[in-house]
Amino acid sequence: MSVLKETDTEVYEAIGKELNRQRYSLELIPSENFTSQAVLEAQGSVLTNKYSEGYPGKRYYGGNQFIDVTETLAIERAKKLFGAEHANVQPHAGAQANMAAYFAFLELGDKMMGLNLSMGGHLTHGSPVNFSGKWYKVVAYNVDKETQLLDYDEIKKQALAEKPKLIQCGYTAYPRMIDFKAFREICDASGAYLMADIAHIAGLIVGGVHPSPIPYADVVTTTTHKTLRGPRGAIILCKKQYAEKVDKAVFPGLQGGPLEHVIAAKAVCFKEAMQPSFKEYARQIVKNAKALADELMSQGFRLVSGGTDTHLILMDLTGKGMTGKEAQEVLDSVGITANKNTIPYDTQKPFITSGLRLGTPAITTRGMKESEMKEVGGMIAKVLGNRSDAAMLEKVRGEVKALCERFPLYKSLGV
Ligand SMILES: Cc1ncc(COP(=O)(O)O)c(C=O)c1O
Repeated sequence: MSVLKETDTEVYEAIGKELNRQRYSLELIPSENFTSQAVLEAQGSVLTNKYSEGYPGKRYYGGNQFIDVTETLAIERAKKLFGAEHANVQPHAGAQANMAAYFAFLELGDKMMGLNLSMGGHLTHGSPVNFSGKWYKVVAYNVDKETQLLDYDEIKKQALAEKPKLIQCGYTAYPRMIDFKAFREICDASGAYLMADIAHIAGLIVGGVHPSPIPYADVVTTTTHKTLRGPRGAIILCKKQYAEKVDKAVFPGLQGGPLEHVIAAKAVCFKEAMQPSFKEYARQIVKNAKALADELMSQGFRLVSGGTDTHLILMDLTGKGMTGKEAQEVLDSVGITANKNTIPYDTQKPFITSGLRLGTPAITTRGMKESEMKEVGGMIAKVLGNRSDAAMLEKVRGEVKALCERFPLYKSLGV
């Protein structure tokens, strides 16, 4: 019996419709995932009622004896999971974690280097429309025009010429592995701090299918809701020597009361990510991304950098007579959810784009494997190749629903 159904039908119904949308669509947005029911339960708990400004054992409010248990579990598990010396689990989201990392390591007006937003960076990596671009002096680096890969020699030259105080790596739309050791060498040569934002690839790192930045970076930020498959939120990891300034940057520097219900759900997520089954999950995400990439290329699509090493694929639609926006919209109409994205050196505006970004974390959580990736690639090709054929779109809509029904979303909820 749902209390919400009785007290607020409008919200109850909208949530029900969203659950159905998730059940019957193919979720290919690379930054999305489906949490476990245990994560949902912790996040929907009474911990949301509590004020707990401060840190475990040193709070500004009484009554935190149980909150201290869950936050300490989250901290200790995060340290163990990533092999980090210190963890702050309070950042509300990825943008706030990045803001706190800059706040800890930079003074306002200091120079930092980050990947250009249009090449795969995130808004918080120095975009002029974001606080990062407004509060710091940003020097953006690019990917190579031909290979569409990071060019570490070029980045080094730029860093030596510009002498930034901090270099940021780790991205939003880069399908290849990142060489954190090369970034460390660049930072050592240019006298910069190294910050790694592993929001997208954290699950791949703890699953052992992508190298870790922990041995090399001074500070690491990550969201917990992407490949890591936890609640919407973020954490900061750093060496012990920086623990105090990172903690002070988060609270009292930038945030007030922590979201302790979310922090408890982060603890649950970290325990799940320590299980051997999570390693298998991470391996399958990458196998699936490679299988989907191969199918799309065999159907005649060009992929940025020619493929993927991760969970993420960036399709280049130039030459296909369609923009990223058009591709996103027609795929949405059949229940395939992806997002338009700029490609390196894009000539289209960010709201239109020439690219489409896809990822496999969510459909891998549903249990799909390589053979289903072939089906999904075939459906995408049919839809993009027959955009005005209503009968074809209807047929694919049916295929999407049938595939989703074969892989129930929350078995324990009966869906
Ligand atoms: C690399 C990276 N960092 C940070 C963020 C920001 O995370 P949030 O949306 O939780 O603020 C994102 C979001 O997509 C991201 O891709």
